[in-house]
Amino acid sequence: MARALHIGVLGAMPEEIGSDLSHLQQLRSEQHGDLTIHHGTWGEGIRLSLAWSGWGKVSAARAATRLLSSAPDIDLLLFTGVAGGADPSLKQWDVVLANAVVQHDMDSRPLFPRFTLPALNRAQLNPESSWLTWASRALAQAAQAGELDEFGSPSTGLIATGDRFICDSAVLDTLREALPGLKAVEMEGAAVAQVAEQEGMPWLVLRVISDGADASAAQSFGDFIQVYDRRAWCLLQALLSRAEQAPQR
Ligand code: ADE
Repeated sequence: MARALHIGVLGAMPEEIGSDLSHLQQLRSEQHGDLTIHHGTWGEGIRLSLAWSGWGKVSAARAATRLLSSAPDIDLLLFTGVAGGADPSLKQWDVVLANAVVQHDMDSRPLFPRFTLPALNRAQLNPESSWLTWASRALAQAAQAGELDEFGSPSTGLIATGDRFICDSAVLDTLREALPGLKAVEMEGAAVAQVAEQEGMPWLVLRVISDGADASAAQSFGDFIQVYDRRAWCLLQALLSRAEQAPQR
């Protein structure tokens, strides 16, 4: 029999993991300083290890590293939560699965080209295609089956991460010019992806658009996150309930 799928799930805020814990069985938790890592099971043989990291790249990278050492047999590291929309066609509640991530505030010019991560000598990181295909199919199937009616359309695209809450259209326009095809901005995903790449661990970044990264972003974000808390589990469940189609590690 195949080994149970084990997914590591990180979100920046408790609201971004939402009510996930209340759906798990055999819950136990571990404390590492101020970081709590929860382990549990869901359904027939799916194992989950979850934590909220706190905001920003350093907190996200720290939580990812701790999670991987606390549960080294994880098959996939998933970062999930909300993001600012950078593509004007996106609306609140649209779902974006990253097919590439970039750290938009990484700039070691002239030593490396803009955005290049010296540790990996690459600017953009891409999830393994087998995991990306599984997750995008699962989301499309869930949307078609009406399981994601409280969300907008799922799509894939480039997500940019940096230690800045973007709430200014001029700043966003500059980023969009520098990063063609940019769909969303957030503060953790590409940091977790970098840790995962360096640790040889498959990763995905899955985000829901909460605001337009413009002057009204703070207000939209604040209102959105209250409601998001109650819906976050739906999105995770769309993936977990299709675990039998997931790649084998
Ligand atoms: N997460 C959600 N909205 C965001 C924004 N506008 N900028 C950065 N991170 C975000």
